[in-house]
Amino acid sequence: MTGVEVNSVSSQHKAIERASKTKNPIEPFAEQFSKYTKDDCDVSVYCKWKADMDAKTLKWAMKLAERNVAPFYRTCGIGWQPKVKQSDLNKNWARYLVAVDKAKQPVAYTMFRFDMDYGCSVLYCYELQIDKTYQRKGLGRFFINALEQMAKHYNMEKLILTVLSNNEDGIKFFNSMGFITDDTSPSPPTDYAILSKTIDSL
Ligand SMILES: CC(C)(COP(=O)(O)OP(=O)(O)OC[C@H]1O[C@@H](n2cnc3c(N)ncnc32)[C@H](O)[C@@H]1OP(=O)(O)O)[C@@H](O)C(=O)NCCC(=O)NCCS
Repeated sequence: MTGVEVNSVSSQHKAIERASKTKNPIEPFAEQFSKYTKDDCDVSVYCKWKADMDAKTLKWAMKLAERNVAPFYRTCGIGWQPKVKQSDLNKNWARYLVAVDKAKQPVAYTMFRFDMDYGCSVLYCYELQIDKTYQRKGLGRFFINALEQMAKHYNMEKLILTVLSNNEDGIKFFNSMGFITDDTSPSPPTDYAILSKTIDSL
């Protein structure tokens, strides 16, 4: 490894450390990402560590994931494993961005973290779930834009996620947001694909 590469790896680790220590990484963009309004969609958005989430909201997050994506898991080789999903959603490192309606009921969320992935600093989006009644109102785009801004601000190299290959609408959505198949995605294609978006530096 050359000196330049060592520096670059250490600066990536530093960037992740800085981002991971930040209590509320969306704060620099609070004005832009604390509310989303379009037609009949009027929500406010908060960002919390898993440890600060209330149990009821975590339970709702699990139920929404089950409603939205269990059918895709069931019809591919992986199968729906609620205990695995439950455990993933309850990781101590998990950060949540949650959209709530006027009655303070949650309607959509994304779960993510800053991490190293195959030698790259990334913002890894583990879940993006919008309640059916709030889909196709621009909320998914809003969340991805928020994640992208954070990834940029904290000097991550990529915004990355995993999607089931049979989730055609999900893949269409991510493609429309500029995601492409990541180099680390399984080849030949399998039950899931890894998609990513390179972050232009500020
Ligand atoms: C996939 C998902 C996150 C998209 O979020 P959304 O809020 O419904 O999507 P948006 O309204 O922000 O759509 C933005 C753009 O993405 C594209 N898009 C979104 N859904 C699409 C679909 N079903 N088919 C084709 N294109 C789609 C469109 O270009 C759309 O722009 P337009 O509405 O102006 O045409 C959401 O529908 C969802 O939660 N689905 C179930 C769970 C899931 O699949 N999650 C992702 C994998 S974990």
